[in-house]
Amino acid sequence: MRVILVGFGVVGQSLAKLLLSRSADLYSQHGIKPRIVACVDNKGSAVAPAGLDLERLLKAKAKGGVGLYEKSERFEPQQVIENVEAEVVIECTPTDLLTGEPGTSHIISAMRTGKNVISINKGPLALAFPSLIELANYNGVMFRFSGTVGGGTPILEFAKRCLKGDRIVSFQGILNGTTNYILSKMEEGLTYESALADAKEKGYAEAKPELDTDGYDAAAKLVIMANWVMGMKVTMKDVARTGISGVSVADVKKAQSRGNAIKLIAACDSRRLEVKPTEVSKKDPICVNGTLNAVTFSSEHSGSQTIIGRGAGGMETASAVLRDLIEIRDTIFER
Ligand SMILES: NC(=O)c1ccc[n+]([C@@H]2O[C@H](COP(=O)([O-])OP(=O)(O)OC[C@H]3O[C@@H](n4cnc5c(N)ncnc54)[C@H](OP(=O)(O)O)[C@@H]3O)[C@@H](O)[C@H]2O)c1
Repeated sequence: MRVILVGFGVVGQSLAKLLLSRSADLYSQHGIKPRIVACVDNKGSAVAPAGLDLERLLKAKAKGGVGLYEKSERFEPQQVIENVEAEVVIECTPTDLLTGEPGTSHIISAMRTGKNVISINKGPLALAFPSLIELANYNGVMFRFSGTVGGGTPILEFAKRCLKGDRIVSFQGILNGTTNYILSKMEEGLTYESALADAKEKGYAEAKPELDTDGYDAAAKLVIMANWVMGMKVTMKDVARTGISGVSVADVKKAQSRGNAIKLIAACDSRRLEVKPTEVSKKDPICVNGTLNAVTFSSEHSGSQTIIGRGAGGMETASAVLRDLIEIRDTIFER
């Protein structure tokens, strides 16, 4: 299967390493032999129709950029996506929740040229989910995005596949590991400011921490889930959003005294789509600590189920991309 990789940062490079270490069992167990035929970063591109040597590609990136892979003409991402022959484009550029770019343009070009798309970039989905699904259907291509919610934890697949046949009526959960880490540290006695500084030091917070602390990241994931799991047609503007910067140590202590904890909860049912700090019983399975994510789905017949796991990380997210690749390959094979 020929793959174009757009963006070669933490997740893109983790994927390359995963493909290098797993190539034998991917073939023997899943019959899949992904070939990265092009890779693009913000400074250049590397193209090889027979497949790039991934070790050499990683070395080129370590020296400065994928453009150093070999001396060749520099192609813009759009040119590569449209003109290089491939079955799948993997979109791994940074998330922009205001414009959705450059990811949205990359995804549209890929779909219009008949390529299946895997996105780990939340921006395009948070801002234009319904129209991107329509475009994928119109062009007869698959669109997968397991890594956008829960990192490597299969939250979307759990809801979509394991609960198939039942009707999910609502779900709620912790979708952002950074804010959960900050709130957990506040329970241990740190102020909001020192907990945020600690999260930054450990590399958990985004370059713009307000994306996490003001609830934008959780809202983006909520939008993706509401569309995919509940069949809604919503975007970021439909979410009522409150972040955690107004939560004080006194609020956290008060909740603690009642056997509860304050968590940034993203919730969806037929009437509401909201992200806000909420008091949750410590006995509730979604009351997880640190950077963990947890989601409880409530279904019409099978009651409530909770899925818990690490919500981010390069290798974790790369493993979600691999799941999507295997699913696309299986579907192509069945056709
Ligand atoms: N890291 C995680 O744990 C995680 C988990 C789930 C989802 N995500 C999402 O996955 C995406 C990638 O995350 P990451 O951590 O890998 O980010 P990253 O390390 O910042 O990598 C982003 C990559 O995109 C490239 N890029 C930027 N603008 C570009 C453009 N216009 N055209 C082509 N390439 C461009 C960058 O190039 P340069 O290297 O040249 O700067 C870099 O290689 C983001 O949308 C993020 O929100 C990340």
